[in-house]
Amino acid sequence: MAAKNGAIRLVAGNSNPQLAEAIAAHLSTPLTKAVVRRFADMEVFVEIEENVRGSDVFILQSTSYPTNDHLMELLIITDALRRSSAQRITAVIPYFGYARQDRKPGPRTPISAKLVANLITTAGADRVMTLDLHAGQIQGFFDIPTDNLYASPMMTRDIKEKFDVGKVTIISPDVGGVARARGLAKRINAPLAIVDKRRERAGESEVMNVIGEVDDRICILVDDIVDSGGTLVNAAEALLKQGAHSVYAYITHGVLSGEAVARITASKLKELVITDSIQPTAAVRGARNIRVLSIATLIGEAIARTAHEESVSSLFD
Ligand code: R5P
Repeated sequence: MAAKNGAIRLVAGNSNPQLAEAIAAHLSTPLTKAVVRRFADMEVFVEIEENVRGSDVFILQSTSYPTNDHLMELLIITDALRRSSAQRITAVIPYFGYARQDRKPGPRTPISAKLVANLITTAGADRVMTLDLHAGQIQGFFDIPTDNLYASPMMTRDIKEKFDVGKVTIISPDVGGVARARGLAKRINAPLAIVDKRRERAGESEVMNVIGEVDDRICILVDDIVDSGGTLVNAAEALLKQGAHSVYAYITHGVLSGEAVARITASKLKELVITDSIQPTAAVRGARNIRVLSIATLIGEAIARTAHEESVSSLFD
């Protein structure tokens, strides 16, 4: 595909080859041949096997588990492309790892998300494209253009197809996620409720208060990340105790560490819908109540618009 900043090139790291192939198919642009492998001591080695001089290159790499390896691959691919005279390099990071470390939770702690932003910029990225950042202000950690895409229009379409929206209440699983959940609630014109987790005194167990009306409602939890699954499963239980008819969840990034898949499969959650920002494992694909929506079209379209210097934000109007 030709573009204003040279021909488009897509270079994939090892984090999510299925998504990379799907994006390439959407853009009718094959992935550029590149070797991204390990030396015997596990150092990363990269070789771009095609000429990228003067090209508009998009690196496709989520910094998902194993986060440090995938981050290092991203940095070294960027360095290789810069030294190969690519005209412009965009780091496309559908899942931005370290995003939850975006402030100092206590004295003498790092702000790792800022460090990662510095590393990506120093390696030579000219732009960043990502999806549902844990905190929007992480965009400001970069001094290069950073597009934060949203999965909510795709999720809205799916919810409208699957549910009688008149019976749906959108739920934020914690107070921190209210803005995100409210955005989706507005899109489908549904009421909003909030699960408020509190530990009144140290040593006492957490109390889950539900703020809002959920009795006999189809409750849809909305969040950016499901990691251990604890937040989700506990919120689902609290909602059912308050009389919810059923509980579903739409969560962008399926981190799903450790026993998360087993915990979700064993829970009363009817269905968890995630995206493929992180490559789903075989366990995720086989789980009875987890469904994956692909973001390939969304990312592919955002890449095409970036390449042609067209508006990306209008994708979300
Ligand atoms: C937290 O602020 C995030 O939005 C998620 O709620 C959290 O990362 C989920 O983690 P877990 O699944 O381990 O409870």
